[in-house]
Amino acid sequence: MLKLNFKPIFATIPKKLKISTLPLSVSSSLQSVRENVSNNLITSINPLSPPTSAYIHLPFCRKRCHYCDFPIVALGSMNQFEDDPRIINYVQLICREIKATKPISTTNPPLETLFFGGGTPSLVPPKLVSSIIQVLKENFGVCSNAEISIEMDPGTFDEMKMRELLELGVNRVSLGVQAFQQELLKKCGRAHGLEEVHDAIGIVKSSGLENWSLDLISSLPHQTLEMWEESLELAVKASPTHVSVYDLQVEQGTKFGNLYTPGEFPLPSETQSAEFYKMASKTLSKAGYEHYEISSYCKKGYTCKHNVTYWQNRAFYGFGLGSASYLGGMRFSRPKKMKEYMGYVQDLEDGDKCPRPVKRRGSSFAVFIHEKYRRRCHNMNRATSSSGSLLVGENQIDTEVEERQSKDSVDKRTYVAVQHF
Ligand SMILES: C[S@@+](CC[C@H](N)C(=O)[O-])C[C@H]1O[C@@H](n2cnc3c(N)ncnc32)[C@H](O)[C@@H]1O
Ligand code: SF4
Repeated sequence: MLKLNFKPIFATIPKKLKISTLPLSVSSSLQSVRENVSNNLITSINPLSPPTSAYIHLPFCRKRCHYCDFPIVALGSMNQFEDDPRIINYVQLICREIKATKPISTTNPPLETLFFGGGTPSLVPPKLVSSIIQVLKENFGVCSNAEISIEMDPGTFDEMKMRELLELGVNRVSLGVQAFQQELLKKCGRAHGLEEVHDAIGIVKSSGLENWSLDLISSLPHQTLEMWEESLELAVKASPTHVSVYDLQVEQGTKFGNLYTPGEFPLPSETQSAEFYKMASKTLSKAGYEHYEISSYCKKGYTCKHNVTYWQNRAFYGFGLGSASYLGGMRFSRPKKMKEYMGYVQDLEDGDKCPRPVKRRGSSFAVFIHEKYRRRCHNMNRATSSSGSLLVGENQIDTEVEERQSKDSVDKRTYVAVQHF
């Protein structure tokens, strides 16, 4: 998953403490670093336009890293997952979800970006990734020059897997390095060590793929400025065309969340975190990377088009466990637990039995929402259609949600949301 919710370092400063009230050294330097960030993303895109991007969540990892709160399934440390029924069954499920999702309009243009995120998508056998692309092609269409990105972890792929992925159309890789220090990788609970990091970089580079990104995390526990400098330098030396730099988010319920308090040792202070951010911006800008959004840097012509979709507030489909979609101006997250997600897909398929849409006055449209998702919708002021992932319910748009009885299912109440533009 791309990290849109990762706060840039200056957003970790308590809200009460405005930039202008920070110690002069921090506030003035943060402002100058912020000015480095390109404003190319600022355009007036209509979020109600048909989506041309799809996020596909592949949740499998060998183990859970100590900072990670993504919806994942830990598979254990064996190396061969070729015939693992957990992966095969999940891929079948996600294909069912895709098939049951109706394109938002009959004139829906083909998809221009696909992003396989996780989890560790590189654990999924390429032939299964290929089957998902095939279903997306059949259901929505995929442009012949679409950007197809995949997240990969060191230690989960070899030359052959890399070649197979490229052959099936993957043309962008995001490699999760995180740190170039063995001790930090270990402290983060990563399933790989430094040697595998260097091997993975070697495999990606020798495949001839130019469009690849390297992920780093700053503000890790026990990370010093010297370590960070070394990580940035080694990242530059690896010469990816894109680098993502995320400031550590200490998430509740993770091992780090239980052990550490932001701003307190062994985590860096806010001032130190600001130094990490400044150092990344300066080092990468000096090395010829454009700081095109808060956490992302790229060489000319190598912005991640899928990422830009998010930043420009464009619509996108989301498929898979816990994934979010943004359609018709509405954001909706799928269940994070596998069993609930299975039920969600089933409901989506059953939804075809529901009458839809019920109202079409002027520019309004209506969708059905299964009762079991209503609470979720209310909590988030979001809703989903049972017949697709058409969404309604954000506050900024005038939305009414009324209860209806589904014609063909007396015990399954559905909710109809009518959205007025
Ligand atoms: C969804 S993760 C998946 C990628 C891959 N499985 C991996 O771990 O490298 C995408 C990126 O998010 C970042 N990330 C994940 N959890 C984070 C956290 N709590 N704080 C900051 N960055 C995080 C990592 O840099 C990671 O590479
Ligand atoms: S490998 Fe990536 S997705 Fe999996 S637990 Fe670690 S950070 Fe999370």
